[in-house]
Amino acid sequence: MKFQKRGRTAILLSGRGSNFKAIYKKSIKDRSWFDIVLVISNRKNAGGLQLARRYGIKSVFISPRDFKNSDEYEKSMISLLNEERVDLVCLAGFMKILSPLFINEFKNRIMNIHPSLLPAFPGLNAQKQALEYGVKVSGCTVHFVDTGIDSGPVILQKAVLTDKNDDEESLSEKILKYEHEIYPEAVSLWFEGRLKISGRKVIISK
Ligand code: GAR
Repeated sequence: MKFQKRGRTAILLSGRGSNFKAIYKKSIKDRSWFDIVLVISNRKNAGGLQLARRYGIKSVFISPRDFKNSDEYEKSMISLLNEERVDLVCLAGFMKILSPLFINEFKNRIMNIHPSLLPAFPGLNAQKQALEYGVKVSGCTVHFVDTGIDSGPVILQKAVLTDKNDDEESLSEKILKYEHEIYPEAVSLWFEGRLKISGRKVIISK
């Protein structure tokens, strides 16, 4: 399905927001298919919120602590996202696990970026896990979000060679450079109507 109108995406983040920035840059390019209409953070001091303000994008800090449970917290995000008529939700360093309540509301309309070649090293500190395991190749993955941890269908991946001198910081930096390439690309492909999920596979059409 191709979008007849300009696509509307939202970013959920917890930190500095460099992936958000990369997606934003793509969104303001000529002939882009989408706009970022909303940024939500679960952390008040997230650098990504400041960036959003600088770009003039609606940005909201929603503290999980202000709600009696995580369902109520997620419901407040869902209403905001629906109010803004968001088509696609992009998790970009959002360090909070979302429950099936949220995921089913936006079924097949949530993407995530993860700093490893999934299914290797899901969860936290993926770069550290990769180094400790001793892999020679790592990388990053953009995937659709399902109800598991980093387990949804893979959209794009990019491999990065590890070096014997790599530490967590240097490997993260190498991987991040590719995250900034594949995440905006995946978002764009989605809004161009070129991604089709077939079981575990994502088929990308020309
Ligand atoms: C990125 O490296 C992203 O892959 C990772 O958090 C970082 C966010 O950076 N996400 C995860 O580890 C999710 N499990 P950013 O705020 O600069 O985009």
